[in-house]
Amino acid sequence: MNLIENISAFQNIVYIASSILFITGIKMLGKEDTAVKGNFLSALAMFIAVAITLVNIVNPLLIIIGISIGAIVGSLIALRVKMTSIPEMVALFNGFGGLATFFIAWSEFNSIPENTFQYILIMITIFIGGVTFSGSIIAYGKLSEKLTIKKTSIVTKLFTTIFYISIIYLVYSILLTNIFVPKFDFFTILLILTLLGGIGFVLPIGGGDMPVVISLLNSFSGIAAAFAGLLLLNNVLIVAGSLVGASGLILTIIMAKAMNRSIGNILFVGYATSSSVSKSEETGEVKPINVSDAYLILENASSVLVVPGYGMAVAQAQHVVRELGELLEANGTEVKYGIHPVAGRMPGHMNVLLAEANVPYDVLVEPDDVNPSMDSIDVAIVIGANDVVNPSATEEPGSPIYGMPIIEVNNARTVFVLKRSMSSGFAGVQNPLFFKENTRMLFGDAKESIGGLVSEFKE
Ligand code: TAP
Repeated sequence: MNLIENISAFQNIVYIASSILFITGIKMLGKEDTAVKGNFLSALAMFIAVAITLVNIVNPLLIIIGISIGAIVGSLIALRVKMTSIPEMVALFNGFGGLATFFIAWSEFNSIPENTFQYILIMITIFIGGVTFSGSIIAYGKLSEKLTIKKTSIVTKLFTTIFYISIIYLVYSILLTNIFVPKFDFFTILLILTLLGGIGFVLPIGGGDMPVVISLLNSFSGIAAAFAGLLLLNNVLIVAGSLVGASGLILTIIMAKAMNRSIGNILFVGYATSSSVSKSEETGEVKPINVSDAYLILENASSVLVVPGYGMAVAQAQHVVRELGELLEANGTEVKYGIHPVAGRMPGHMNVLLAEANVPYDVLVEPDDVNPSMDSIDVAIVIGANDVVNPSATEEPGSPIYGMPIIEVNNARTVFVLKRSMSSGFAGVQNPLFFKENTRMLFGDAKESIGGLVSEFKE
């Protein structure tokens, strides 16, 4: 064996070690007490894989400069990002992964593919990477509420049409292979159509469907990376890309199931058609309550269900929520926490916040566990949740969220809804729960309202 073969054999051994570290790291992410270590192991695996790849590169300076700039920018963004903006950040980073593979495939195309397989691989990698990039930018815009184009608008329809055209053009480009290369610059057209198509892929998807799209885009970025690994014959890229692709796809399926929808329905049909407007532009009287009166009811409750949502994350109320839970328990009340799978803005958002506040795992219940016995709950306290407790999802065919499973707090004896105003949640629809006979609105920032209840209990 010559020196180059020796180096490449050694690299492959290190790649296998990195892959094992990746798999172990991902496995450890599944449990709260090992998650931080798992994250560290995966980052270490990535560092080792990148370092060993640089060994036989003749002039690694440019790459090192690129990595350093990326590391500094990425670290600054991650350090500064607010907890509530993490989903947008994840969407953006998915997009950059897609862009990297888009560039890899582009550069491989320029170095002339050796055979038909490589050619087809390049076309598909360009497409998945490009769609992931521009689709993720749109997802970022939607999640950060910077982009508010309606899915029924003419612009959305135009881009959606371009998306379908880009798929047809991809098939055409693949069929061209090396034999029928046309006279015009078909490749530049593919690049442009792909990037515009990605916009059209995500624009029509909105409201409560965004979580599913984010995890699907995450999966796409992994698949594109695995394809790029095949192009570069880089084993660790194939393994890492496949891991991201497969885990993203599993998460997508779990999320779609949690929303009671098929993935095809989410991507190509959407919740509501253009004409279906939610009827619940309400109707009825809102009954506000203040902290002292809410305390009196809670003091006499024998069972309480706490349902947290995005507003708890905004208010960073998880610690006072745990304190209130402990005070209620000390008062003889049974306390459970109803966790909806898409509450908040990222998978497991509520679990992470409550774990951070040391709420025991065994008092967390899922909608299916708690809904059948909801009528035995004395008080349901909805803390900054809106869409995940919206009865329109079960009662109002034609509502943009009809069909989504909810936590049916409307069936509890009394409901306290803690939020600052009557404004809608992520899906942008009014919530008839606020007008129900058994609902009392405790207006204000969730941390302050819960803090007020805690003080009342302590007095
Ligand atoms: P939302 O329906 O978004 O409602 C959150 C509510 O919190 C708002 O109505 C808001 O009302 C209130 N709020 C905000 N800040 C507050 C504060 N400081 N104190 C008290 N209340 C506050 O949240 P949800 O019920 O958790 O539902 C999640 C939604 O996001 C679903 O539609 C879901 O599909 C979507 N989504 C989820 C994910 C994942 S993976 N979880 C990702 C993307 C999107 P006020 O402004 O009146 O206070």
